[in-house]
Amino acid sequence: MLSPEVIPFFVVYIFGYAQLLPENNRLGKLNRPGIMPHSLDISIDDLYNNRRIVPERSTEHEDDLYGRPHTKEKNIKGDSGMGSKLRAAVIGCGMAAKIDHIRWYAGHPDVDLVALADVNVNAAKFCAQHWGGKPYADAEEMLKIECPDVVSVCSPVAKHCQHSIMAADHGAHVLTEKPMAPTVEECDQMMEAARRNNVTLGVAFHKRYNAGAEEVRRRIKAGDIGQPIFGRTYWTIYAGHTRESRGKLETGGGCFQDHGSHWLDQYRWWIGEIAAVQGMMEIIYPEVNEVEDHAVALVEFENGFSATIETSWVGPAHEHDQLEATWIYGTEGAICVSLPPWTNYQPPTVKQWVRNGNYWQSISLPSDMLFFGHYHYKRQIDDFVACLKEGRQPGATGKDGRKTIEAVLALYQSHAEGRKISLPLAKSPDVRAIFERLRNQKLN
Ligand SMILES: NC(=O)c1ccc[n+]([C@@H]2O[C@H](COP(=O)([O-])OP(=O)(O)OC[C@H]3O[C@@H](n4cnc5c(N)ncnc54)[C@H](O)[C@@H]3O)[C@@H](O)[C@H]2O)c1
Repeated sequence: MLSPEVIPFFVVYIFGYAQLLPENNRLGKLNRPGIMPHSLDISIDDLYNNRRIVPERSTEHEDDLYGRPHTKEKNIKGDSGMGSKLRAAVIGCGMAAKIDHIRWYAGHPDVDLVALADVNVNAAKFCAQHWGGKPYADAEEMLKIECPDVVSVCSPVAKHCQHSIMAADHGAHVLTEKPMAPTVEECDQMMEAARRNNVTLGVAFHKRYNAGAEEVRRRIKAGDIGQPIFGRTYWTIYAGHTRESRGKLETGGGCFQDHGSHWLDQYRWWIGEIAAVQGMMEIIYPEVNEVEDHAVALVEFENGFSATIETSWVGPAHEHDQLEATWIYGTEGAICVSLPPWTNYQPPTVKQWVRNGNYWQSISLPSDMLFFGHYHYKRQIDDFVACLKEGRQPGATGKDGRKTIEAVLALYQSHAEGRKISLPLAKSPDVRAIFERLRNQKLN
């Protein structure tokens, strides 16, 4: 016999179970086949449909993180039968170039990877040796000689504006890495260069190409969690991070510019436009970093939604089991995406809860509907190539890149002035002065 106090729980349990049956109601649609592939292998096969690049799962995670070639990857080019091939080049041959761009151009049936440029010519030679293309030490010389149709700009953020304008002025379409540039004025110049040369400008916010992120967006837009109310994001990585291209004053920003920009873009894509930002930041390791290595922002959206975004370069990085996660809460439910470390081939976890009166019922979503590893990077390059062929705009445009930079700068200004900053910004704040003051306070 059930005791009287457990009867409500029993009723909720039975009701909840019935709700999960596909034929019963709105929850049924969560389990319907065909939303996403139901097996990881099928998913990868689908991704590589019509492609002759054959990935194999590897346990050599470090290799992928630091961009050394995936030794088990076979990369065989062939004629796609889709017309002439795009001539692709990459400027900056560091980690992002290797993970996000070069390998995917090299394996694309409609692309010829013609050139790689890096001031450190050995970096360009290394990539050329593994993926093809001619190495150059000088990006402008490369553009003059090779006349590529499309250029990925993967140099440090302080160079994105110069390299994007240079490539556009040589008639190439540009996919620049995020963050777009340190200031909104540079973003404007990049967009103006694309406009006057009639070329496409995209910003590599690869999270937009993550199937899990797409599914979260679909659910939010479909009203599965009711009216979205607030969100929460954290991303902690790289304790005492010392990489040369990050943490320095000339980058114009630290962890919030670098990783916060990803989530600002993601929220804009999921929820809507940002109205105002307030928050604080710190330089916890001033002996290493000249810009913020910890920041917490409260971001307000035009539709009334709000989110806290916390980014740090102070965490235990890859040993941390969940270094990046976001929760979105709505009037009828909630959804959480938790990403494992980059070096981990585990799929992200997506959980959803639905409100049943005063109870919250969790729905487990098939994790194999999600990407693992770096395949969203492949989708990003595939989509950019398709955009150029079909004459449409990419997932994230220059305007999207600029909007996130505006919000990043608003956080810096908010910290400096101790108040909420509304968007749009009239102009970029003097971030150099802000960071110098912050670091001096810490050192003295
Ligand atoms: N989307 C992502 O997943 C992702 C991941 C990492 C980095 N990024 C972004 O990519 C960009 C590069 O970051 P990274 O981690 O690859 O840095 P990195 O330091 O590994 O590589 C940068 C490369 O650019 C080269 N370079 C510097 N100045 C140059 C110049 N004037 N001309 C040509 N080459 C030049 C450097 O020699 C270096 O090889 C940054 O904007 C970063 O935020 C994105």
